[in-house]
Amino acid sequence: MSKTVLITGASSGIGRALALEFAARGYHLGLAARRLDLLAQLRAEVQTQHPDPARRIAIVALDVDQPEAVASTLRPLFEALGKVDIVVVNAGVNRFTPIGRGKLLEQAQVIQTNLIGAIATAEAAVEHFLGQGAGQLVGVSSLASLQAIPKQGAYCASKAGFSMYLDAARIELKRKNIAVCQILPGFVLTDIVPKMEKYPFAVSAAQAARESVSLIEKRKEFGVVPAYPWRWLRPFFGHIPDALWRKLA
Ligand SMILES: NC(=O)c1ccc[n+]([C@@H]2O[C@H](COP(=O)([O-])OP(=O)(O)OC[C@H]3O[C@@H](n4cnc5c(N)ncnc54)[C@H](OP(=O)(O)O)[C@@H]3O)[C@@H](O)[C@H]2O)c1
Repeated sequence: MSKTVLITGASSGIGRALALEFAARGYHLGLAARRLDLLAQLRAEVQTQHPDPARRIAIVALDVDQPEAVASTLRPLFEALGKVDIVVVNAGVNRFTPIGRGKLLEQAQVIQTNLIGAIATAEAAVEHFLGQGAGQLVGVSSLASLQAIPKQGAYCASKAGFSMYLDAARIELKRKNIAVCQILPGFVLTDIVPKMEKYPFAVSAAQAARESVSLIEKRKEFGVVPAYPWRWLRPFFGHIPDALWRKLA
């Protein structure tokens, strides 16, 4: 029987590519983001590219910046889809926030969306999984959770916080038959920051999605995408001397 996945931040970038990749592998889809028009376009694209009259695709307008409304917004989606096997907490933002330059509101916004919004989504997902006795929670964190990046302190803090939350969830939920998986992308060509192509080893969203879905299907607890070269460089993250990093970053 086909599995069902719900993806937040499905209207663009990695989330959109994940939806197409899961569709190619036969999944039913739940798609959430603020831009409902883009979700409707994506649904049409899936139906054209991977026609399957039996496939269920449900879409919903979701703003994770309203954390108290996330569970009630997602509930009808869970009901429309029936059993949801996987929830990918992917919605996120990035902002350039040099410290001491009047960027407090931007920094708070990044923490709100990437940490509070992500936790609110995970809460709703786990409530559903506990009800059905199983599930897989996937969090899209970042390599920035491991290595501080100058002028992106709030982004790094949001992702480090989310990764720590996912670590706790993994330990806490194992006996409840709920698996937790963290995906840490390196640089992926999306609109999240301008000129992503200038960053090292940047890959397409389609490649990041292919690798991510393979990790999710293998129920890995942790994965970096793209695997090359980040899997080999990962042990150095968080240990790069400040003086060297100042020159590199
Ligand atoms: N691209 C990279 O190099 C990279 C690297 C590491 C980690 N990541 C992570 O990957 C995830 C996806 O990012 P991306 O690169 O694919 O960026 P993107 O193309 O800008 O996509 C971000 C997605 O998040 C959704 N979103 C943003 N704020 C939201 C909100 N308040 N409520 C609901 N949805 C919201 C957006 O949808 P709407 O605007 O329609 O709501 C959009 O679908 C993020 O968590 C990001 O931190 C990306």
